[in-house]
Amino acid sequence: MKVAVTGKGGVGKTTIAGTLARLLGRDGLRILAVDADPNYNLWSAIGMDDTIARRIQPLLENEELVRQKTEMKWVEALGNFFQIHPSVNDLAENFAIAGPDNVSLLVAGTVNMGGQGCMCPSAALLKALINHLSLESNEAFIMDMDAGIENLGRGTTRGMDALLAVVEPGRRSLDTLERIKGLASDIGLARVFAVGNKVTDESDAGFISEALKSYRIPLIGMVPFDETVREADRHGIALIDLNENSPAVQAIKAIKSELVGRLEELPSNTFLSEES
Ligand SMILES: Nc1ncnc2c1ncn2[C@@H]1O[C@H](COP(=O)(O)OP(=O)(O)OP(=O)(O)O)[C@@H](O)[C@H]1O
Ligand SMILES: [Mg+2]
Repeated sequence: MKVAVTGKGGVGKTTIAGTLARLLGRDGLRILAVDADPNYNLWSAIGMDDTIARRIQPLLENEELVRQKTEMKWVEALGNFFQIHPSVNDLAENFAIAGPDNVSLLVAGTVNMGGQGCMCPSAALLKALINHLSLESNEAFIMDMDAGIENLGRGTTRGMDALLAVVEPGRRSLDTLERIKGLASDIGLARVFAVGNKVTDESDAGFISEALKSYRIPLIGMVPFDETVREADRHGIALIDLNENSPAVQAIKAIKSELVGRLEELPSNTFLSEES
């Protein structure tokens, strides 16, 4: 299963992605968590030590690796040539950092976008990682995205089984759903699910469910506003390690079950990942 967590800045993507990864890991899956945010902090939401985090070298910022994987070469008068479908299966093996509960982390880092319309080697490598990384049935891939990924354009999320769009009770966070639907056209809208976060009361919950109707994106759960999340953040520890019985963890647990159930109902998306 491959799931990308997306949404407006600050809505709770990293908190939800990290906690979801830990919970799925506890279910016995081997999790590859991919941090595709240039300001990478998924490590802390997963509960990795900051001594480990300090040693992270983001994959796409490793020029030598990007050059080697994409077989980039300079051809006089023509410019740079590179492989747009680099092989990526050894990346997880060689570069992922092991964390708690069967979760390993791969930090992608900043994608060099170049000029408009330019497909740069690091962007090609990220796309290949998302689309072509093959998983065993006991493995899952959870990606924490930032808004920049949308700029990679069509095909970015093609191999994903689902997009999880996090929204909070506010117009601005819902407006990003229009862009998320653009990304979703790669994988079909049936594979986009929304989760509400930072929900304080019935009126927040009602606002979110009402607004989502017009986007025709199913709401698969809501996470309450929970002081434990902020406390975990303040202490630099994973939410699940601070209090696994907290309302937010309980809600994410329910979202995990709902997500797994919905994906079981859908046909596999592997044909898409092979074809892109
Ligand atoms: N359910 C919640 N209850 C209370 N606070 C929350 C909740 N979810 C997230 N937060 C707080 O909101 C802030 C943003 O959370 P987080 O970093 O997970 O969001 P993000 O979408 O990944 O942000 P960014 O776009 O910067 O990557 C953090 O301070 C976090 O503690
Ligand atoms: Mg984040």
